[in-house]
Amino acid sequence: MATTHNSTPRSNILEIIKKRYSCRKYLPEPVSEEHQGILAQAVRWAPSACNRQPYNFLFITDRDTIGAISRAVPTGPESINAWIATAPLIVAAVGRPELFWHKLTQVIDKDYHRTDAAIAMDHLSLVATELGLGTCWVGWFHRRKMGQILDVARGDEAIILMTVGYPDKEAPRAKQRKELSELIVNK
Ligand SMILES: Cc1cc2nc3c(=O)[nH]c(=O)nc-3n(C[C@H](O)[C@H](O)[C@H](O)COP(=O)(O)O)c2cc1C
Repeated sequence: MATTHNSTPRSNILEIIKKRYSCRKYLPEPVSEEHQGILAQAVRWAPSACNRQPYNFLFITDRDTIGAISRAVPTGPESINAWIATAPLIVAAVGRPELFWHKLTQVIDKDYHRTDAAIAMDHLSLVATELGLGTCWVGWFHRRKMGQILDVARGDEAIILMTVGYPDKEAPRAKQRKELSELIVNK
């Protein structure tokens, strides 16, 4: 049976992708248990290389820990990421290299734990957008300091963080993106 490709998008996923923005101001209201559960599903169903799922996701609501995270910048004034302290929830992706596994397979010679973590966190940010939550990626941190704050086990790595919360009134800025002609190369 011939497959037909309908040019009309079947879901509004592209709209959600365009709607997501870096939210850096949150209401103090906690993220509901229901919403946290849905975010957990979003990371759970993400793909990962060889399905190794080489990570855990810390859902952090403790105010002191969130304050320490906001000050763990690698260089420059702490105030660069001071806004983080307003987030009611931070999700931290903690991962571990799976070098042995990937070498063993002889198919891929790279370690993919950071890629895997980024995929899962992107799923989280898009599902959060759909739920009316704001998010912002946080990668500007001192890795060793962050490891101590999050009590990361030896051999594990604090890969990337995401602030999550209900947005305070903050008009999303117009998005600046490369033109398609600069971005896409047809070969
Ligand atoms: C991997 C990564 C790390 C980031 N780290 C930070 C950060 O530490 N602090 C911050 O304020 N924004 C951070 N951002 C947000 C970017 O500045 C933002 O995504 C970019 O300017 C595009 O804006 P938009 O998210 O509103 O579309 C990070 C984004 C990514 C993808």
